[in-house]
Amino acid sequence: FRIIKTDMAKKAFIFDLDGVIVDTAKYHFLAWQRLAAQLGIEFTPEHNEQLKGVSRVRSLEIILALGNVEASQEEKNEWLLQKNTEYLAYVEEMDESEILPGVMQVLDYLKHHKQNIVLGSASKNAKPILEKAKIIHYFDAIVDGNDVSNAKPDPEVFLQGANKVNDSAKNCIVFEDSVAGIQAANLANMISIGIGETEILHEADYIFNDFTFIDLSFIENLINEKCV
Ligand code: BG6
Ligand code: MG
Repeated sequence: FRIIKTDMAKKAFIFDLDGVIVDTAKYHFLAWQRLAAQLGIEFTPEHNEQLKGVSRVRSLEIILALGNVEASQEEKNEWLLQKNTEYLAYVEEMDESEILPGVMQVLDYLKHHKQNIVLGSASKNAKPILEKAKIIHYFDAIVDGNDVSNAKPDPEVFLQGANKVNDSAKNCIVFEDSVAGIQAANLANMISIGIGETEILHEADYIFNDFTFIDLSFIENLINEKCV
């Protein structure tokens, strides 16, 4: 007889992109703020929290509602294009230095321990951004704004991600910086980890200011289900 060792637990770690892996949330904000100013709408960082994790089209609707601005479909399309063009100009200048502190350490640990690494983002620009940051090869599956029809807080993006790597929801851990994303992870019955402020992300199972506060023993425990 030979003793066959059972496989080590294999989880799926699903990462949001903007504001979790890379510091692009600030570029979304700057581009929306410029458009809002042009339309005479006040748009503050507090308002911006409502846009995090939310699709481009829905984001514009929220901004227009803030200013009670009504617009034709043509105008909306023009503004969406303008916002994305400005956003992409920022993205064009990006490199790996925009990866948020502590992220690489966690990605490397997960890779080393052969865990599934998945992207679950609302952005339609996710792939070029991962390429610019030179980390696209870390991902076993990518689900982005081009794949989903129901935006966060709908759990679709994360359920699709789990499906792509053949993991069930109970084996998935989601990293998110947005309220909508934490709600989506919770609705998917996944473990939700908020990256940001406790006051904003209080619905998450765990909250860290940023990835530098995540001890690798915490990740190890998630892999081995010691903290769930
Ligand atoms: C999310 C961001 O990740 O993607 C939102 O948090 C953004 O702010 C959304 O609006 C859509 O992104 P994009 O790149 O498709 O406009
Ligand atoms: Mg985000």
